[in-house]
Amino acid sequence: MEQGGVAGIRNQFPVLGRQVNDHPLVYLDSGATTQKPRRVIDRMTQCLTRDYATVHRGVYSMSQESTEACERVRHLVASFVNARSVNEVVFTSGTTESLNLIATILGRGYLKSGDEILITQMEHHANIVPWQEVAKSVGARLKVAPIDSSGDIRLDEFNSLVTDTTKVVAFTHVSNVLGTVNPVEDLVRIAKNVGAIVVVDGAQGIAHRPVDVRKMGCDFYCFSAHKAYGPTGVGVLVGRYDLLTQLPPYKFGGDMIETVTFDGSTYALPPAKFEAGTPPIVEIIGLGEAIQFLIDVGWHALLAHEHQLISYLMNQLSTIPGIQLIGTPREKSAAVSFVMSGVHPHDVGTILDQEGVAVRVGHHCAQPLMGVYNVPATIRASLGVYNNYQDIDRLIEALLTVRKYFS
Ligand code: ALA
Repeated sequence: MEQGGVAGIRNQFPVLGRQVNDHPLVYLDSGATTQKPRRVIDRMTQCLTRDYATVHRGVYSMSQESTEACERVRHLVASFVNARSVNEVVFTSGTTESLNLIATILGRGYLKSGDEILITQMEHHANIVPWQEVAKSVGARLKVAPIDSSGDIRLDEFNSLVTDTTKVVAFTHVSNVLGTVNPVEDLVRIAKNVGAIVVVDGAQGIAHRPVDVRKMGCDFYCFSAHKAYGPTGVGVLVGRYDLLTQLPPYKFGGDMIETVTFDGSTYALPPAKFEAGTPPIVEIIGLGEAIQFLIDVGWHALLAHEHQLISYLMNQLSTIPGIQLIGTPREKSAAVSFVMSGVHPHDVGTILDQEGVAVRVGHHCAQPLMGVYNVPATIRASLGVYNNYQDIDRLIEALLTVRKYFS
């Protein structure tokens, strides 16, 4: 059975036609990276075969067209996340670079010894390690807000951890392990009571929930294209323009300068200030096409599809003996993690692969969160717009095969 609003969408993803280990592919690892629709592949191919030229540097027509095409994507991203201005959209190489960028410049131009940075127990490494490093370099303290056993942030604890010394609060929009959709506006409100800067990691949010950075009230929101049906190598940092103007640059080189002499340099205004070097031109074009794809599918269809499949998946998993779900939050998005009694997740992943079912097993770049649940690893099925009920049935059949092997 296909879901109404996304009927026929699978045909737009050429890879879904392939076999893996003599079975039709069931792709359930969209939390790691999504597959690409034909229109993104075609648009990038067209760029490479017909339109490719540098940006911001050429007086010739092709370079000007290329610049305009990339700047149109910036406008599209700005409107997709409701940024206050197109100049708040900085192209980066992905979420990890966006988070490193913001942590680094806050360390250089804002944080000082004795300040506190607050993150949560559900963060993945990219939203932990840059803060550890910046805390070390300025003498700040990193604090961690706990979650409850369902995988929701404990709001009372979060509230009491935010104090006058809290200068930065960074948390994920959606957990890549638990699927938790965080109450961003509530968390921002608490952080803003003490004037902290709020950074939201949108890696797992951007393709699963509408994002309105103005409504959220956060100062920074970041995401990667490749988890949203676009290519690897490009991502976005959306940042408040006044902060981007005040904070120092991150990387230095061409395109981010205003003037350069051997005695010193001055820097361009944002977003150019944070885009040193030739940008990933083809990937930016691919990102634009991916966002247009999401807009064309529409949030109504995307949310309904995800909701139906998540409910079905959770119900079906509960019929298998010995499965323990990791993450049953109030609002759950597309990541469903679980463990199976008596079987290591890596063995489960290997057997599922033999059946053509691709899931991620391991710590999901969230080792501290594994510690919170006292498990070394989990099995994670994460859904995309192309998944359907048959995919889930195939996963469940394969898990029953695992159960048989190990009983
Ligand atoms: N990319 C990582 C994942 O698979 C964080 O969730």
